[in-house]
Amino acid sequence: AEIVAIADVNEERAKATAEEFGVPRVYTDYEKMLQQEDLDGVSVCTPNSLHAPVAIAAFESGCHVLCEKPIATSAAEGQKMVEAGKKAGKIFMMAFNNRFRGDTQVLKTYIEQGRLGRIYYAKTGWIRRRGIPGMGGWFTTKAMSGGGPLIDLGVHVLDLTMYLMGNPKPVSAYGSTYAEFGPRMPGGEKYDVEDLAAAIVKFSDGATVFLEASWASNIERERFYVTLMGTEGGADLEPLRIYTEENGHQVDIAPQAPAVHGHHAEARHFVDCIKENRTPLATGEHGLDVVKILDAIYQSAGTGEMVRIA
Ligand SMILES: NC(=O)c1ccc[n+]([C@@H]2O[C@H](COP(=O)([O-])OP(=O)(O)OC[C@H]3O[C@@H](n4cnc5c(N)ncnc54)[C@H](O)[C@@H]3O)[C@@H](O)[C@H]2O)c1
Repeated sequence: AEIVAIADVNEERAKATAEEFGVPRVYTDYEKMLQQEDLDGVSVCTPNSLHAPVAIAAFESGCHVLCEKPIATSAAEGQKMVEAGKKAGKIFMMAFNNRFRGDTQVLKTYIEQGRLGRIYYAKTGWIRRRGIPGMGGWFTTKAMSGGGPLIDLGVHVLDLTMYLMGNPKPVSAYGSTYAEFGPRMPGGEKYDVEDLAAAIVKFSDGATVFLEASWASNIERERFYVTLMGTEGGADLEPLRIYTEENGHQVDIAPQAPAVHGHHAEARHFVDCIKENRTPLATGEHGLDVVKILDAIYQSAGTGEMVRIA
């Protein structure tokens, strides 16, 4: 595949990236790029609130779309994107890079062979001690980001967990959000997103996921984790371990995973899906299910009630 154009409202940034990767043309208006170029696919990596308009415009001009996470800042927007993709008959892939990692793919083979049995409970989180991205910029402005670490980091681990569990359908969520660090930091006057979120999500197959995400919290160190508990075995990611029984003994399995870089494999997969007309491993519908849960968690945090997910 060849990258033929970049569009960014920040022309300097677009030019620098174009130079770095040998991309021939630069635009400051993505609509102009879509009109003037003959593109097969578009990678949407604008701030979160611009995923929907850019992806919909790309579908309408006949492009396949690889969309950064989260799909959008709300399920309503995500729904419109999925519909636009269907109407255009184009591939809608979500950039859920963690699905493509070597350790994830190795664990998935064990799960698909039934080695974990039915996964009925999972704990997952991406929690930072200190790590608020772009303080004062779009990440910390709800109108552009849709939220804080829940929609920035939680989206990754929630998707990864749901992927490993076989993409179960969410039915309800109950959660809390806090902003204890951002507003107290220099430039924090306009900080209007959370810096920590915790939630319980229930699925139609009866499974439960506990989820936590933070940009700042008083913990020892940053952690990214997925712990799965199934009827026949359990597993941890980072590092990959499987806990089961063999010959009547409890055993821990430590598979050697190939060092596959998730982002590289994801980009390659998008191109392969276009060339071979395949359904991607991570679809727009998967992205929509995740943002439906995030919407419900934010709503629950506001009302203090459990929120049902349609
Ligand atoms: N999958 C991952 O691991 C991963 C990692 C980082 C970021 N992301 C996602 O990628 C997206 C971008 O994040 P980032 O950290 O690169 O942000 P960023 O602010 O560094 O980059 C966003 C770019 O979009 C440009 N932009 C803004 N409005 C635009 C418009 N109307 N048209 C064209 N370009 C416009 C900005 O000028 C900027 O260069 C976000 O959705 C984020 O969640 C994903």
